[in-house]
Amino acid sequence: MFEASTYIERRRQLRDRIGSGVILFVGNDLTPMNYADNPYPFWQDRSFLYYWGLDEPGLAGLLDADSGEAILFGHDPTIDEVVWTGPQPSLASKAERIGASGSAPIEEISGRIRALNAAGQKIHQLPLYRAASRIAVAGWLGIPVGEIDTTISRPFVEAVVDQRIIKTAEEIDETEQAMAITRAMHLEGMRVARPGVAEWEVAGAVEGMALRHGGRLSFPIICSKHGETLHNHHYPNILSAGDIVVLDTGGVAPSGYAGDITRTLPIGGRFDERQSVIYELVLEAEIRSIEAVRPGVRYLDVHLAACRILADGLTDLGIMKGDPDEAVAAGAHALFMPHGLGHMMGLDMHDGEGLDENYVGYGTELERSSQFGLASLRLGRSLQPGFVLTVEPGLYFIPALIDRWQADGVHESFIDYDVLDSWRDFGGVRIEDDVVVTADGNRVLGEPIPRSLEDVEALLSE
Ligand code: GLY
Ligand code: MN
Ligand code: MN
Repeated sequence: MFEASTYIERRRQLRDRIGSGVILFVGNDLTPMNYADNPYPFWQDRSFLYYWGLDEPGLAGLLDADSGEAILFGHDPTIDEVVWTGPQPSLASKAERIGASGSAPIEEISGRIRALNAAGQKIHQLPLYRAASRIAVAGWLGIPVGEIDTTISRPFVEAVVDQRIIKTAEEIDETEQAMAITRAMHLEGMRVARPGVAEWEVAGAVEGMALRHGGRLSFPIICSKHGETLHNHHYPNILSAGDIVVLDTGGVAPSGYAGDITRTLPIGGRFDERQSVIYELVLEAEIRSIEAVRPGVRYLDVHLAACRILADGLTDLGIMKGDPDEAVAAGAHALFMPHGLGHMMGLDMHDGEGLDENYVGYGTELERSSQFGLASLRLGRSLQPGFVLTVEPGLYFIPALIDRWQADGVHESFIDYDVLDSWRDFGGVRIEDDVVVTADGNRVLGEPIPRSLEDVEALLSE
């Protein structure tokens, strides 16, 4: 958590931008997993966390854009809560901690909002992605739940995105802490992933390392020898020498800032010849993409350049054919890289996507493509200093997708399906790092995690 001055300044900037009306922030509550007293781990709404700093359930905030009054709504701990979950500061002291001008019981927020509505005040609020929040806020506003999306304030959404996507120095410091946790998680994964070990043991060791460093996971661990399944959250397989494992994982610092790193691990300590070629190709795409990251460059263009590097390499291998530039323009390479080169990162691993994924990634500058592959590029806009983003090329051989495209004759002029047939059981390779855009280029976040083919082999064969 930052000093109160950070939250005061963030709210000041926001209300300056919004101009008038009242701005409503809705914190998350505990969500029952199977009954009320056994909830999912608590995860605070990231915009509430950004402006109000408090990482706990049962809170809301009202910020008056005209007067600057900032009221925190919640409740003082009951004696039952003290007995079951321990001592808690009072609501008033929490409000003081974050520089709010006052506090009030959460039961009063509904009356406060109705009075503001009756006085003709505009109530600004964000998209609500949880059913419990949608029901609660519809009640506060006195409207049917089905109408809640009609109350979203576009100026509020854009103001929050514009503010959150530029990271300050103290946010970068917190992200560095997330990177240190993420690095420890990856080094542990590399230590544990050996022939005869189960994927669940690797995933368990990696998650344990997040906890041992005071962190938690920024998203469910992806750990699989079936790396061709892009987001594989199942860990049922026993590893054998010769397998390659995609380990995509990240830690969250106690402040809430996230990391998101991928390494591909040769089980037994050696990539075979084909694995080496694909690994080096993905690594080249990653290194050259990172080199290209600087202010003013469109990430769409960095993505397309990475795809051309991959298409060039696949053409050298005979898997693709024809002109690689034309193949990428047609989208033929997306058979092998169906996802985007990266996304924004911050308090959310995919930062701000609950607000408006397209506005976060494209602003008002670009239309997101609907072409297969390019449609999955979450970040396309021109880069600015202070953006934190991922660079994560990959190559995948997805049997079901290969079969579908071949049966439908998709991009036959760019793909040699006969040659491809002998690669269909290859799996997948992804390499991902996180960078901050600086005034004249970028800086890779975190201490290095072994990444070159030689370094990864050396660690995995120890
Ligand atoms: N960790 C999922 C992703 O890289 O987007
Ligand atoms: Mn990732
Ligand atoms: Mn990522």
